[in-house]
Amino acid sequence: MSATISNIAVLTSGGDAPGMNAAIRSVARSASFYNLKCFGILRGYQGLIEGKIKVLGPRNVNNIINKGGTILKSARSDEFRTKEGRAKAYENLQKHNIDALVVIGGDGSFTGGLIFQQEFGIPVIGIPGTIDNDIFGTSHTIGYDTALNTVVDAVDKIRDTAISHNRLFFVEVMGRDAGHIALNTGIGAGAEEVLIPEENMGLDRLLESLKRSKKSGKLSSIVMVAEGDKIGKNVFELAEYIEDNLPSYEVRVSVLGHMQRGGAPTCFDRVLASRMGLRAVEELQNGVSGHMIGIADGKMILTPLEKAIKGESKIDSELVRVSEIMRL
Ligand code: F6P
Repeated sequence: MSATISNIAVLTSGGDAPGMNAAIRSVARSASFYNLKCFGILRGYQGLIEGKIKVLGPRNVNNIINKGGTILKSARSDEFRTKEGRAKAYENLQKHNIDALVVIGGDGSFTGGLIFQQEFGIPVIGIPGTIDNDIFGTSHTIGYDTALNTVVDAVDKIRDTAISHNRLFFVEVMGRDAGHIALNTGIGAGAEEVLIPEENMGLDRLLESLKRSKKSGKLSSIVMVAEGDKIGKNVFELAEYIEDNLPSYEVRVSVLGHMQRGGAPTCFDRVLASRMGLRAVEELQNGVSGHMIGIADGKMILTPLEKAIKGESKIDSELVRVSEIMRL
């Protein structure tokens, strides 16, 4: 341990994700382990601008490892996008003698952290927390595994009613820019088709495929749709189009929405968050800054924030293949 860091702060920013609390707990307890003082910043960068900063000792994070959401709350801050806003934020860090920052969030949060570090020289380490899993430099973001299980659980229930009524269900899942949730839950919940932003399937191919499956004897089906799917229609228009062109199917739509962001984190997410929090605190003391902690092949790794922000978290083509073959 080389850098002289005495006081660190942690914040959660952007969309919340199950496991963020486990990460906050880990940062607070790891800091305590290394005799550092830890502060929690409320409501992300906006709270930093407003000086909403409180001490986060090991006893302040009792009984949160199993809780969804974030005890520090989250917000998207327009003010932090301005130089004046960031200057106010830096002043507040100085008031508490905070000399390093742990940012738990997605690429937007990392972009803010990187600019802040470049402007004021404050060391920043990122921990990827988003259910979308759309961050380069980690095979898993905190919250992704929990969201997958939430979706599979919901779709299992939808399947019961789909079968009872011989219906075709379009299930929209989160993923503004990425199809990881749709693709993985599509396989896990046995979907007929998976529509993701990374692959433009086209309406005609979708229609043909559904016709084929109907012919093959399927009486009901599930189509998983990532909200960012680029097929050109929203999920309701999509359902209408299919119903108009495949009248033998009764079609329904279910938008799972924000329930995917809530709930108790899975064991995987709790362990991941605990590991990442500890590593973040250790790396700050090693003098590392401007990096994100990630996981690859089961091991903690570091990726420069710049790469994590700009890089693409690619869809696994093997999974696409599995999903295509399993629908037969
Ligand atoms: O957490 C990421 C995400 O779930 C996206 O998939 C989605 O588009 C977005 O958040 C919606 O978030 P909000 O309603 O908070 O703007």
